[in-house]
Amino acid sequence: MELLSPRPCIGQIKSYRPARPPQDGAGWIDLSLTVNPLGAGQKALNAYRQVAMQIHRYPDWAQDNLRHAVAGRYELDADHITCSAGSDEMIHLVTQAFAGPGDEVLCHEHGYRGFLKAIRATGATPVVAAERDLTVDVEAMIDRANERTKICFLANPNNPTGTYIPIDCVQRLRAGLPSHTLLVLDAAYAEYCRRNNYSDGTELVENSDNVLMVRTFSKLHGLAGLRVGWAYGPKTVIDAINQVRGPFNVSIAAQAAAAAALIDTDHEEATHAHNSAWLPWLGHELEQIGVRVYPSVCNFILARIPTDPALGVQAVMDHLARRGVLVKCTQDYGLTDCLRITVGREDENRALVAALAEILN
Ligand SMILES: Cc1ncc(COP(=O)(O)O)c(C=O)c1O
Repeated sequence: MELLSPRPCIGQIKSYRPARPPQDGAGWIDLSLTVNPLGAGQKALNAYRQVAMQIHRYPDWAQDNLRHAVAGRYELDADHITCSAGSDEMIHLVTQAFAGPGDEVLCHEHGYRGFLKAIRATGATPVVAAERDLTVDVEAMIDRANERTKICFLANPNNPTGTYIPIDCVQRLRAGLPSHTLLVLDAAYAEYCRRNNYSDGTELVENSDNVLMVRTFSKLHGLAGLRVGWAYGPKTVIDAINQVRGPFNVSIAAQAAAAAALIDTDHEEATHAHNSAWLPWLGHELEQIGVRVYPSVCNFILARIPTDPALGVQAVMDHLARRGVLVKCTQDYGLTDCLRITVGREDENRALVAALAEILN
């Protein structure tokens, strides 16, 4: 008798490793996920409460209100936008729409791991280009592309490194890739990156027929628990994603809260002010206790733990956990001696530094 088994590519997917056991929510200072320490804004919370009496209905399949809210906020064409249950779903949808067994999909060495999961799930082959100094190497990516490359994923800025490449490098990447390759720009942390030579890629989308930009409400907007993301791209690409996505993939509550979040400039400003103050503070304090910190344009820091044979990353994480602090181990990203630490509230940042200092000094 033949046994039931999933497709072989499914066995190659690495399981997600959370920093704490499921359902164990109590009392942790959780800096392991890159969420907004200020939570959601008042406008999103009010919109969420207001739709409570409608949750027996299915959501708007056309996502009209949310798409127009995104288009209005960023001056885009709403017909070129589609929304998803978090940007992770968008990454899966676009991979399903454009790649399959026999195809190759490009990503980068320390790039966001959601790409690998989506690629493997479709049965396509991931091709990983080396990075340089924990930063995307455009030439290395172009070198790895060929006639089978259907998608090239670029997380810009990237998680967990916190680094980014300037827009002229992204343009060079687009120009160097084959025209049949869709360049997917994952700009999950775009709102945090305030550098003159950075762009989320909107103009590149508008000036090409093979670039898609993917965004999320999980980070700056503080709506990770509602799961909302969106993509902006050529009509043919958006149509293909819409063919694949379930008609009701973004819930009523998620659509309403996300649309409201887009007009909550007070919350955005408060978030920026918080991050601008505490990201450098955290970097400075970590360096003071001997931790190497990489320059980050996001709301988290990649921290290299000093090499000490008696003290591995796991021992440091265990110590932090005993002090009630959770951080992300970056082993799955090929960064075995690093931790990713998200900027928390003031008390959380101070508790993290104090607990780290105890074990490192
Ligand atoms: C670079 C990047 N892309 C996409 C995501 C997925 O975010 P979400 O599915 O919550 O929108 C994350 C989440 O951490 C991320 O870091």
